[in-house]
Amino acid sequence: MTNSNLQYRDLHIGVFDSGIGGLTVLAELKKNLPNEKFYYLGDTARVPYGTRSPETVIRYARSCTNFLIKKGIKLLIIACNTASSFALDTIRKEINVPVIGVVEPGAKAVIKKTKNKRVGIIGTEGTISSQSYEKVIKNIASDIRIFPKACPLFVPLVEEGWTEGEIPSLVVSEYLTPIIEEGIDTLLLACTHYPLLKRTIKNTFKEFSVEIVDSAEETAVEVVNLLQSCNLMRKDIKISNENRIEYFVTDAPEKFKKIGNRFLKENIEYVEWIDIPVNI
Ligand code: DGL
Repeated sequence: MTNSNLQYRDLHIGVFDSGIGGLTVLAELKKNLPNEKFYYLGDTARVPYGTRSPETVIRYARSCTNFLIKKGIKLLIIACNTASSFALDTIRKEINVPVIGVVEPGAKAVIKKTKNKRVGIIGTEGTISSQSYEKVIKNIASDIRIFPKACPLFVPLVEEGWTEGEIPSLVVSEYLTPIIEEGIDTLLLACTHYPLLKRTIKNTFKEFSVEIVDSAEETAVEVVNLLQSCNLMRKDIKISNENRIEYFVTDAPEKFKKIGNRFLKENIEYVEWIDIPVNI
């Protein structure tokens, strides 16, 4: 192991999302990588990405990436499904740091999980229209039938904290009944916000045996594998929990803190507001 290796692997991991949703991915990363340090950037001034054009999402993703690259990172994680769907290939070509999105890990996980080869995929309008998950799944397992569904009301519901009760159950039932009735045995939550609706989805369809797969969990596993195989894992360096993550947002840090605590299931102490240029 060389000195430069040692320094490089001590760098932070950069994570960005359109806003707070990527904290579900960060929560999994924290759990699986106790010695790593993270920069988390939530592009709260420009959320949601899920309703925007591919070109706009690419521009936003590029500006988030540039900010994190300037901070100095050893790995970039695009926690947002919409940004991973539209911008992953572009960003990978443009920077020298490895990039992991949430689409490939999620797609591989459903391929492993499904037995009857009928899979439901739910996400934002952008993610579903991009067919990003279909492309990866069909490439590996062309015999899997995919039932995609955009669920645009899920993001605002979760942001309002309405994850359980009568209204979320009704909305879940309205969106998901048609794909559940197709006989799927696996449902992929292809959006950062949806893990918070997992319990409601399970309860709404408890008489059906549908496995719910979460891109966040699978992405964390992929990150651990990559860091191990490239010898980029921080070693023997104890860091206190408070100093482990630095948070940045492009708007409303106080709101991010308030809602973010619910996503991360712990207190976020400090969030820095930053301004990042977009037209590049
Ligand atoms: N982070 C987005 C995603 O996973 C959801 C919120 C948004 O539309 O920006 O697709």
